[in-house]
Amino acid sequence: MIPKVRKAVFPAAGLGTRFLPATKAQPKEMLPLVDKPLIQYGVEEALHSGIQNIFIVTGRGKSAIEDHFDVSFELEHTLDAKNKKDLLAVVRGISDMINVAYVRQKEALGLGHAVLRARELVGSEPFAAVLSDDVIDAPIPCLRQLLDIYEFYGASVLALMEVEGDAISAYGVVDAEPVPHNGGNSRLFRIRNMVEKPKASEAPSNLAIIGRYVLTSEIFDALDHIEPGTGGEIQLTDGLKYLLRSRPIYGYKFEGKRYDAGDKLGFLRATVEFALNRYDLGAEFRAYLKELKL
Ligand code: UTP
Repeated sequence: MIPKVRKAVFPAAGLGTRFLPATKAQPKEMLPLVDKPLIQYGVEEALHSGIQNIFIVTGRGKSAIEDHFDVSFELEHTLDAKNKKDLLAVVRGISDMINVAYVRQKEALGLGHAVLRARELVGSEPFAAVLSDDVIDAPIPCLRQLLDIYEFYGASVLALMEVEGDAISAYGVVDAEPVPHNGGNSRLFRIRNMVEKPKASEAPSNLAIIGRYVLTSEIFDALDHIEPGTGGEIQLTDGLKYLLRSRPIYGYKFEGKRYDAGDKLGFLRATVEFALNRYDLGAEFRAYLKELKL
Protein backbone atom coordinates (compact mmCIF):
# COMPACT_ATOMS: atom_id res chain seq x y z
CA MET A 1 0.00 0.00 0.00
CA ILE A 2 1.21 3.52 -0.79
CA PRO A 3 1.79 5.41 2.50
CA LYS A 4 -0.14 8.64 2.98
CA VAL A 5 1.63 12.00 3.05
CA ARG A 6 0.93 13.60 6.44
CA LYS A 7 3.87 15.99 6.81
CA ALA A 8 5.09 19.08 5.01
CA VAL A 9 8.53 20.67 5.31
CA PHE A 10 8.88 24.42 4.79
CA PRO A 11 12.50 25.47 4.25
CA ALA A 12 12.60 29.07 5.45
CA ALA A 13 16.21 29.63 6.41
CA GLY A 14 17.45 31.32 3.23
CA LEU A 15 19.04 34.75 3.37
CA GLY A 16 16.57 36.42 0.99
CA THR A 17 19.27 38.58 -0.61
CA ARG A 18 17.03 39.47 -3.56
CA PHE A 19 14.76 41.34 -1.18
CA LEU A 20 17.27 43.37 0.81
CA PRO A 21 17.02 45.59 2.79
CA ALA A 22 13.50 44.35 3.77
CA THR A 23 14.97 40.96 4.68
CA LYS A 24 17.90 42.24 6.73
CA ALA A 25 16.18 41.71 10.09
CA GLN A 26 12.96 40.02 8.99
CA PRO A 27 12.48 36.74 7.13
CA LYS A 28 11.19 37.06 3.59
CA GLU A 29 8.60 34.39 4.44
CA MET A 30 6.92 37.04 6.65
CA LEU A 31 6.55 39.65 3.88
CA PRO A 32 2.80 40.22 3.53
CA LEU A 33 0.90 39.73 0.29
CA VAL A 34 -1.97 42.15 0.93
CA ASP A 35 -2.36 41.21 4.62
CA LYS A 36 -1.05 37.67 4.99
CA PRO A 37 2.59 36.58 5.24
CA LEU A 38 3.92 34.48 2.37
CA ILE A 39 4.44 31.45 4.57
CA GLN A 40 0.79 31.42 5.63
CA TYR A 41 -0.30 31.03 2.00
CA GLY A 42 1.92 27.95 1.82
CA VAL A 43 0.70 26.54 5.13
CA GLU A 44 -2.94 27.04 4.07
CA GLU A 45 -2.18 25.28 0.77
CA ALA A 46 -0.82 22.30 2.73
CA LEU A 47 -3.89 22.29 4.99
CA HIS A 48 -6.26 22.45 2.01
CA SER A 49 -4.34 19.54 0.51
CA GLY A 50 -4.96 17.43 3.62
CA ILE A 51 -1.65 17.93 5.47
CA GLN A 52 -1.67 19.22 9.05
CA ASN A 53 1.82 18.48 10.33
CA ILE A 54 4.02 21.40 9.42
CA PHE A 55 7.79 21.44 9.96
CA ILE A 56 9.47 24.76 9.38
CA VAL A 57 13.24 24.94 8.87
CA THR A 58 14.30 28.28 10.30
CA GLY A 59 17.56 30.16 10.70
CA ARG A 60 18.96 33.24 12.41
CA GLY A 61 16.48 36.10 12.79
CA LYS A 62 13.47 33.95 11.97
CA SER A 63 11.66 34.11 15.32
CA ALA A 64 8.83 36.16 13.76
CA ILE A 65 7.75 32.98 11.95
CA GLU A 66 7.47 31.09 15.24
CA ASP A 67 5.56 33.95 16.84
CA HIS A 68 3.19 34.08 13.88
CA PHE A 69 2.03 30.50 14.34
CA ASP A 70 1.86 30.75 18.14
CA VAL A 71 -1.08 31.82 20.24
CA SER A 72 -0.80 35.55 20.89
CA PHE A 73 -2.44 35.73 24.28
CA GLU A 74 -2.20 39.48 24.75
CA LEU A 75 -3.53 40.26 21.28
CA GLU A 76 -6.36 37.73 21.56
CA HIS A 77 -7.35 39.06 24.97
CA THR A 78 -7.49 42.64 23.66
CA LEU A 79 -9.51 41.68 20.57
CA ASP A 80 -11.89 39.69 22.76
CA ALA A 81 -12.32 42.58 25.20
CA LYS A 82 -13.08 44.94 22.29
CA ASN A 83 -15.54 42.41 20.88
CA LYS A 84 -13.66 42.19 17.57
CA LYS A 85 -14.78 38.64 16.87
CA ASP A 86 -13.88 38.59 13.16
CA LEU A 87 -10.29 39.64 13.80
CA LEU A 88 -10.05 37.21 16.70
CA ALA A 89 -11.07 34.36 14.41
CA VAL A 90 -8.49 35.48 11.82
CA VAL A 91 -5.71 35.60 14.41
CA ARG A 92 -6.63 32.30 16.05
CA GLY A 93 -7.59 30.32 12.96
CA ILE A 94 -4.24 29.28 11.62
CA SER A 95 -2.53 28.29 14.89
CA ASP A 96 -5.57 26.18 15.81
CA MET A 97 -5.50 24.18 12.60
CA ILE A 98 -1.92 22.95 12.37
CA ASN A 99 0.65 21.04 14.38
CA VAL A 100 3.84 22.93 13.90
CA ALA A 101 7.43 22.10 14.84
CA TYR A 102 10.67 23.91 14.07
CA VAL A 103 14.16 22.81 13.27
CA ARG A 104 17.16 25.09 12.80
CA GLN A 105 19.50 25.32 9.88
CA LYS A 106 22.48 27.00 11.53
CA GLU A 107 24.01 28.18 8.28
CA ALA A 108 22.30 28.76 4.93
CA LEU A 109 24.13 25.96 3.11
CA GLY A 110 21.48 25.39 0.48
CA LEU A 111 17.95 24.13 -0.05
CA GLY A 112 19.03 20.47 -0.02
CA HIS A 113 20.84 21.03 3.26
CA ALA A 114 17.70 22.69 4.70
CA VAL A 115 15.50 19.74 3.71
CA LEU A 116 18.00 17.33 5.25
CA ARG A 117 17.63 19.17 8.60
CA ALA A 118 14.03 17.88 8.77
CA ARG A 119 15.10 14.24 8.54
CA GLU A 120 14.50 13.40 12.23
CA LEU A 121 11.05 14.99 12.17
CA VAL A 122 9.95 13.32 8.95
CA GLY A 123 11.42 9.87 9.64
CA SER A 124 10.73 7.23 6.99
CA GLU A 125 7.45 8.70 5.71
CA PRO A 126 6.88 10.42 2.37
CA PHE A 127 6.50 14.17 2.76
CA ALA A 128 5.76 17.39 0.94
CA ALA A 129 8.24 20.26 0.63
CA VAL A 130 6.92 23.78 0.10
CA LEU A 131 8.99 26.85 -0.77
CA SER A 132 6.71 29.56 0.44
CA ASP A 133 8.19 32.33 -1.68
CA ASP A 134 6.56 30.53 -4.61
CA VAL A 135 2.95 31.59 -4.16
CA ILE A 136 0.48 29.66 -6.29
CA ASP A 137 -3.05 30.65 -7.19
CA ALA A 138 -4.81 27.51 -8.38
CA PRO A 139 -8.34 26.10 -8.63
CA ILE A 140 -7.09 22.92 -6.89
CA PRO A 141 -4.17 23.56 -4.50
CA CYS A 142 -0.91 22.78 -6.33
CA LEU A 143 0.21 20.41 -3.58
CA ARG A 144 -3.08 18.51 -3.85
CA GLN A 145 -2.47 18.09 -7.59
CA LEU A 146 0.96 16.59 -6.87
CA LEU A 147 -0.43 14.37 -4.11
CA ASP A 148 -3.00 12.91 -6.54
CA ILE A 149 -0.10 11.78 -8.76
CA TYR A 150 1.90 10.50 -5.79
CA GLU A 151 -1.08 8.50 -4.53
CA PHE A 152 -1.31 6.80 -7.94
CA TYR A 153 2.38 6.02 -8.58
CA GLY A 154 3.87 5.98 -5.06
CA ALA A 155 6.92 7.92 -6.31
CA SER A 156 8.32 11.42 -5.83
CA VAL A 157 6.59 14.17 -7.83
CA LEU A 158 7.88 17.67 -8.65
CA ALA A 159 5.82 20.67 -9.77
CA LEU A 160 6.77 21.83 -13.27
CA MET A 161 6.07 25.06 -15.12
CA GLU A 162 6.83 26.14 -18.70
CA VAL A 163 9.35 29.01 -18.82
CA GLU A 164 10.26 30.62 -22.14
CA GLY A 165 13.55 32.17 -23.28
CA ASP A 166 16.52 33.21 -21.13
CA ALA A 167 14.47 33.18 -17.93
CA ILE A 168 14.84 29.36 -17.82
CA SER A 169 18.43 29.74 -16.57
CA ALA A 170 17.16 30.81 -13.13
CA TYR A 171 15.60 27.36 -12.48
CA GLY A 172 16.26 23.68 -12.14
CA VAL A 173 15.25 22.28 -15.55
CA VAL A 174 14.14 18.74 -16.42
CA ASP A 175 14.71 16.42 -19.30
CA ALA A 176 11.47 14.46 -19.29
CA GLU A 177 9.11 12.33 -21.38
CA PRO A 178 5.33 12.71 -21.28
CA VAL A 179 3.39 9.92 -19.59
CA PRO A 180 -0.25 9.24 -20.52
CA HIS A 181 -2.37 9.63 -17.41
CA ASN A 182 -6.13 9.56 -16.89
CA GLY A 183 -6.54 8.70 -20.58
CA GLY A 184 -6.01 12.29 -21.70
CA ASN A 185 -3.37 14.58 -23.11
CA SER A 186 -1.45 14.58 -19.92
CA ARG A 187 0.41 17.08 -17.80
CA LEU A 188 2.47 14.25 -16.37
CA PHE A 189 6.12 13.52 -17.20
CA ARG A 190 8.64 10.92 -16.20
CA ILE A 191 11.91 12.66 -15.46
CA ARG A 192 15.07 11.42 -17.20
CA ASN A 193 17.51 14.00 -15.93
CA MET A 194 17.67 17.51 -14.48
CA VAL A 195 20.09 20.44 -14.51
CA GLU A 196 20.31 23.29 -11.99
CA LYS A 197 20.33 26.77 -13.58
CA PRO A 198 21.51 25.84 -17.11
CA LYS A 199 22.42 28.41 -19.78
CA ALA A 200 19.30 28.95 -21.90
CA SER A 201 21.09 27.41 -24.91
CA GLU A 202 21.89 24.27 -22.90
CA ALA A 203 18.53 23.78 -21.14
CA PRO A 204 17.17 20.27 -21.82
CA SER A 205 13.56 21.60 -22.09
CA ASN A 206 11.40 24.59 -21.16
CA LEU A 207 10.06 22.77 -18.08
CA ALA A 208 11.29 24.34 -14.84
CA ILE A 209 11.00 22.87 -11.35
CA ILE A 210 9.16 25.20 -8.98
CA GLY A 211 8.78 25.15 -5.21
CA ARG A 212 6.38 22.27 -4.55
CA TYR A 213 7.56 18.69 -4.12
CA VAL A 214 6.24 15.38 -2.85
CA LEU A 215 9.26 13.32 -1.85
CA THR A 216 9.84 9.80 -0.62
CA SER A 217 12.16 9.56 2.36
CA GLU A 218 14.98 8.10 0.22
CA ILE A 219 15.78 11.72 -0.66
CA PHE A 220 17.51 12.04 2.73
CA ASP A 221 20.11 9.36 1.92
CA ALA A 222 20.58 10.96 -1.50
CA LEU A 223 21.19 14.39 0.07
CA ASP A 224 23.63 12.80 2.49
CA HIS A 225 25.67 11.39 -0.40
CA ILE A 226 26.09 14.44 -2.59
CA GLU A 227 28.79 17.09 -2.51
CA PRO A 228 28.09 20.84 -2.47
CA GLY A 229 27.26 22.04 -6.02
CA THR A 230 26.51 25.47 -7.57
CA GLY A 231 27.49 28.27 -5.18
CA GLY A 232 29.00 25.84 -2.64
CA GLU A 233 25.48 24.85 -1.55
CA ILE A 234 23.90 21.43 -1.13
CA GLN A 235 21.32 21.62 -3.90
CA LEU A 236 18.01 19.76 -3.74
CA THR A 237 18.24 19.27 -7.52
CA ASP A 238 21.53 17.37 -7.09
CA GLY A 239 19.89 15.17 -4.43
CA LEU A 240 16.99 14.47 -6.78
CA LYS A 241 19.43 13.60 -9.58
CA TYR A 242 21.12 11.12 -7.26
CA LEU A 243 17.75 9.64 -6.31
CA LEU A 244 16.91 9.22 -10.02
CA ARG A 245 19.61 6.56 -10.31
CA SER A 246 17.54 4.20 -8.20
CA ARG A 247 13.96 5.53 -8.13
CA PRO A 248 11.50 6.96 -10.64
CA ILE A 249 10.64 10.64 -10.27
CA TYR A 250 7.64 12.26 -11.92
CA GLY A 251 7.01 15.88 -12.87
CA TYR A 252 3.55 17.42 -13.08
CA LYS A 253 2.75 20.58 -15.03
CA PHE A 254 0.34 21.92 -12.44
CA GLU A 255 -2.78 23.94 -13.24
CA GLY A 256 -2.61 27.44 -11.80
CA LYS A 257 -0.47 30.54 -11.72
CA ARG A 258 2.79 30.80 -9.79
CA TYR A 259 4.33 34.04 -8.54
CA ASP A 260 7.96 34.32 -7.51
CA ALA A 261 7.30 36.40 -4.42
CA GLY A 262 10.95 36.17 -3.33
CA ASP A 263 11.75 38.55 -6.18
CA LYS A 264 10.70 42.21 -6.07
CA LEU A 265 8.87 42.29 -9.41
CA GLY A 266 7.22 38.92 -8.79
CA PHE A 267 6.12 40.14 -5.38
CA LEU A 268 4.58 43.31 -6.87
CA ARG A 269 2.70 41.29 -9.50
CA ALA A 270 1.32 38.98 -6.83
CA THR A 271 0.33 41.89 -4.61
CA VAL A 272 -1.62 43.62 -7.40
CA GLU A 273 -3.39 40.46 -8.58
CA PHE A 274 -4.24 39.17 -5.11
CA ALA A 275 -5.56 42.60 -4.10
CA LEU A 276 -7.70 42.78 -7.26
CA ASN A 277 -9.22 39.40 -6.38
CA ARG A 278 -10.12 40.35 -2.83
CA TYR A 279 -13.84 40.71 -2.17
CA ASP A 280 -13.24 43.50 0.35
CA LEU A 281 -10.61 45.51 -1.58
CA GLY A 282 -10.81 44.52 -5.24
CA ALA A 283 -13.40 47.03 -6.51
CA GLU A 284 -11.80 50.06 -4.86
CA PHE A 285 -8.29 49.00 -5.81
CA ARG A 286 -9.34 48.46 -9.44
CA ALA A 287 -10.89 51.95 -9.53
CA TYR A 288 -7.66 53.39 -8.10
CA LEU A 289 -5.49 51.61 -10.70
CA LYS A 290 -7.72 52.92 -13.49
CA GLU A 291 -7.21 56.46 -12.21
CA LEU A 292 -3.43 56.18 -12.67
CA LYS A 293 -2.28 57.64 -15.95
CA LEU A 294 0.02 54.80 -16.99
P1 UTP B 1 16.08 30.86 -2.52
O1 UTP B 1 16.72 30.23 -3.68
O2 UTP B 1 14.96 31.80 -2.81
O3 UTP B 1 17.23 31.56 -1.66
O4 UTP B 1 15.59 29.72 -1.55
P2 UTP B 1 17.14 32.63 -0.52
O5 UTP B 1 18.48 32.65 0.14
O6 UTP B 1 15.98 32.42 0.39
O7 UTP B 1 16.86 34.01 -1.29
P3 UTP B 1 17.78 34.88 -2.26
O8 UTP B 1 17.89 34.09 -3.54
O9 UTP B 1 19.09 35.11 -1.57
O10 UTP B 1 16.99 36.14 -2.44
C1 UTP B 1 14.45 28.94 -1.81
C2 UTP B 1 13.86 28.45 -0.51
O11 UTP B 1 14.81 27.66 0.20
C3 UTP B 1 15.04 28.17 1.50
C4 UTP B 1 14.61 29.64 1.43
O12 UTP B 1 14.23 30.12 2.70
C5 UTP B 1 13.46 29.60 0.43
O13 UTP B 1 12.25 29.20 1.03
N1 UTP B 1 16.48 28.00 1.84
C6 UTP B 1 17.45 28.32 0.93
C7 UTP B 1 16.82 27.51 3.08
O14 UTP B 1 15.95 27.22 3.93
N2 UTP B 1 18.14 27.35 3.38
C8 UTP B 1 19.13 27.65 2.51
O15 UTP B 1 20.31 27.48 2.84
C9 UTP B 1 18.77 28.15 1.24
